[in-house]
Amino acid sequence: MAADKASAALPGVDGNTGRTAAVPAAAGPAGVPVVAGAAGAPVAAGASPDTAPLVAMHGIVKRYGAADGSLGAAGSTAVYALRGVNLRIARGEFVAIVGPSGSGKSTLMNILGCLDVADYGQYVLAGVDVSKLGDDALATVRNRLVGFIFQQWNLLARTTALDNVALPLAYRGDRDRGRRALAALRAVGLEARAKHRPNQLSGGEQQRVAIARALVTSPAILLADEPTGSLDSATGAGIMRLFARLHETGRTVIVVTHDPRVAERARRQIHLLDGRIVLDGLTREIQAGTTPAPDVWARPSAQSAVPATTAVPASPAVPASPAMPATTAVPATTSD
Ligand SMILES: Nc1ncnc2c1ncn2[C@@H]1O[C@H](COP(=O)(O)OP(=O)(O)OP(=O)(O)O)[C@@H](O)[C@H]1O
Ligand SMILES: [Mg+2]
Repeated sequence: MAADKASAALPGVDGNTGRTAAVPAAAGPAGVPVVAGAAGAPVAAGASPDTAPLVAMHGIVKRYGAADGSLGAAGSTAVYALRGVNLRIARGEFVAIVGPSGSGKSTLMNILGCLDVADYGQYVLAGVDVSKLGDDALATVRNRLVGFIFQQWNLLARTTALDNVALPLAYRGDRDRGRRALAALRAVGLEARAKHRPNQLSGGEQQRVAIARALVTSPAILLADEPTGSLDSATGAGIMRLFARLHETGRTVIVVTHDPRVAERARRQIHLLDGRIVLDGLTREIQAGTTPAPDVWARPSAQSAVPATTAVPASPAVPASPAMPATTAVPATTSD
């Protein structure tokens, strides 16, 4: 992946802390402008990075497929996977992104993790406006700031756990990678399995290796798309406890899940439905009923029962929903 080839430092962004203090705007040979500001609103260059949230999205729209014709036009194959997402996540949060299949969870995660870019809107990650970066600068941001964990953990089959974990550091030319990879394996309780290859490890252990690989670069943000989806419930619960422990040590963790029981382990939940955020609240408030949760788990019947939240205005770039083609009209596929 191009991301992993990036080895140049991202000036002004400390991947270990995710902080962007004392960074002049528009600094850096990578041409990465560093900006900051309140999330949920467009970010102006030159604001204090210290006051910025880690993640600030404003009016994010993602379209897949042909752009021909107007929205909703007969024969248009365009799918609007995200329809004006506004989102702010502070450093150190533990967030679950939930919703039914096809609601846009992976699309949102891929944009959060700089694996993909939005068609409209602004995304500022750790003070870096990544909305309009080219591939190389985006790869640098990804390598420096993001640890991504996939459902199918994606380990190299013939490579030991230790070398799998060290891989992101190898792309950077880090000479201390063996020691750092071992420390990351220790953090997930797998130091004793360092020399094992993936086929000598259980599913849960392989996922922990993948988590160690995501941790090893000390990213500002850990993103996991259905990390428990391939595991039995007990093993999946262990993985979620591991994320909770990482959160307790100050990591920012964002987990996508289909499963309400998995979501309940996160402190905050963001519910997506048909490309929009329909609920954003603390798990304890959702459980207590003080933030009533719409039933996003059932589909498609829930769709008509859930009003669009008034707190999240539609992006000016996207017409209001009546003009939008329903995503349910397109056979659901996953990008996982
Ligand atoms: N590469 C693509 N090309 C066209 N449409 C896509 C593509 N990837 C996703 N989509 C569509 O975008 C919408 C959102 O997909 P996404 O994968 O983000 O959903 P999801 O919430 O992650 O679903 P799941 O829970 O099944 O993984 C869906 O309607 C899907 O069909
Ligand atoms: Mg998905």
